[in-house]
Amino acid sequence: MGVDNILKLYAETIRSSYLHYGFWDDPGLIDIEALTLEDIKKAQNRYIENLSSYIPKAVKSILDVGCGIGGNAAYLLDKGYDIETLSPDDYQRKIINQKFGDQIPFHHCKFEQFYSKKKFDLILESESACYIKIDEGFSKARVVLRDGGYLLASDYFVHFKDSSKSPHLKSSHDINKYLESSKSHGFNLIREFDQTDNTMITLDYGKYFMDRFIEPSIDYLKYSIKKNYPKTSSLFLKLFESKIKSKKEQLDLLDSVLFRKYRKYMIFLFQKV
Ligand SMILES: C[S@@+](CC[C@H](N)C(=O)[O-])C[C@H]1O[C@@H](n2cnc3c(N)ncnc32)[C@H](O)[C@@H]1O
Repeated sequence: MGVDNILKLYAETIRSSYLHYGFWDDPGLIDIEALTLEDIKKAQNRYIENLSSYIPKAVKSILDVGCGIGGNAAYLLDKGYDIETLSPDDYQRKIINQKFGDQIPFHHCKFEQFYSKKKFDLILESESACYIKIDEGFSKARVVLRDGGYLLASDYFVHFKDSSKSPHLKSSHDINKYLESSKSHGFNLIREFDQTDNTMITLDYGKYFMDRFIEPSIDYLKYSIKKNYPKTSSLFLKLFESKIKSKKEQLDLLDSVLFRKYRKYMIFLFQKV
């Protein structure tokens, strides 16, 4: 079904079992330059700890939609929930199978195409809501949830638009459209929390790492190519630089000031009525 290579890159570089931003309790106290990958992993653990505090007491069965590489599922399994996982991604399927074997059922499909006889108490969409088509996602959630069941979504949504081509305006749902769709599909919003402040440290760290290590390394590589291959370097560098330019525009995604301008990172708990 294909592999999301960006998510694979995160999995292989950060080497945690999560693919989300993490949650920082006291973002104002963090010194970005002093952070380590271990701190990022701790924040990712804290994220599911905080998110799971929104799971209502009566919930037993959970469908982890867009389960990534299984960190959230492992955490929830450990807390005693009856968990099933779902992802359309081939790489994630391999990792989930290695991690859980037969212990947890895995559904290899998009949520929009999921079919199940079983009804779940809660659907978890941890940083996966933005990948799922809004209306199809709520229609499917209605079918898959028992009456009175819950949808717990934690993701970033666009709250402001302008005529810019900011990448923050892409690959994220419009918050008003999302909430309107929830209502029209028979869901009540029963809890919400804006966790933007608690998540931005991870972006700030990513930007710091890029500015400090990756950009100077690219400059050095260009210098080195020019020096060693003075005759052939100019054509190669032209091609290389046009690729780098398009990638650099994507780096705006690491800018937390721009994130805040366009997006909010929300927790929404809906109940099927
Ligand atoms: C950013 S990752 C989040 C992974 C995990 N939930 C976490 O919090 O670490 C997004 C997940 O959504 C999955 N995904 C993408 N499109 C999807 C779809 N249409 N239906 C269900 N999951 C989808 C991706 O394969 C991936 O597992």
